[in-house]
Amino acid sequence: MKPRRVMTAGLIAGGMLIGGFVQAGTPSASMLANTCFGCHGPGGNSNGPATPTLAGASAEYFEEVMEAYQSGDRRATIMDRIAKGYTKEEIKLLAGYFSKQKFVPAKGQKFDPKKAKKGAKLHDKYCEKCHADGGSSPEDDSGILAGQWRPYLKYTLDDILAGKSEMPKKMMKKLKKLHKKKGDAGIEALLNYYASKQ
Ligand code: HEC
Ligand code: HEC
Repeated sequence: MKPRRVMTAGLIAGGMLIGGFVQAGTPSASMLANTCFGCHGPGGNSNGPATPTLAGASAEYFEEVMEAYQSGDRRATIMDRIAKGYTKEEIKLLAGYFSKQKFVPAKGQKFDPKKAKKGAKLHDKYCEKCHADGGSSPEDDSGILAGQWRPYLKYTLDDILAGKSEMPKKMMKKLKKLHKKKGDAGIEALLNYYASKQ
């Protein structure tokens, strides 16, 4: 029941802003962001494992993802409903807030060093172009993969491969090529690589 309570808190916070209970005129970004911490962790660094870390992702990426949740272009278990509770302006504030937080790689994730090594090579060949610095740079506006929670990345990639979430055509081409050539073991290797970044 906890997640539900947190969500309600978010909606109430949103309502308060619209209702004008917040005085200063500009709604506070940190107050909006506060309602996300219950699931995404304080400052947006998630305690995992199925909820992603938001801290450090670029504002552009963040806004795009929230819009994709609103429109249904990105598959979600819960974010579609949550995202619909926020206006464009509020999402901008949230994006600004989370992009300024420091990304902390998920600690203590298990990985197989051999598979991680194979994953590093696959990443370089298929993904590095748009997920620079081994998937740790936010500058490509493509989300941070290195040190993100592995269970989250796994089901996100499964959804993407199954065509349930819309992704850039060029990315789909590379991902499908990798999957065709290397199979599930290739995806597994990538997941080990990203988990190894701690
Ligand atoms: C009830 C738990 C919960 C709450 C509250 C919540 N989220 Fe989420 N969030 C999730 C889950 C779980 C996912 C993974 C997608 C899914 O399954 O819906 C996610 C995914 C996301 C993503 C995608 C991250 C990425 O790397 O692509 C963004 C952005 C996001 N949430 C923003 C927010 C913001 C902003 C708030 C607060 C306004 C918020 N979330 C509140 C559970 C939550
Ligand atoms: C042509 C550029 C490009 C290539 C190549 C590419 N990606 Fe992406 N990727 C993106 C962009 C842009 C996004 C954000 C788009 C969105 O969410 O709608 C993204 C998003 C993602 C996400 C979602 C991140 C999150 O936090 O939810 C995952 C996972 C991902 N890419 C994995 C990969 C993997 C693995 C490869 C290599 C096989 C790859 N990408 C290759 C551009 C690319």
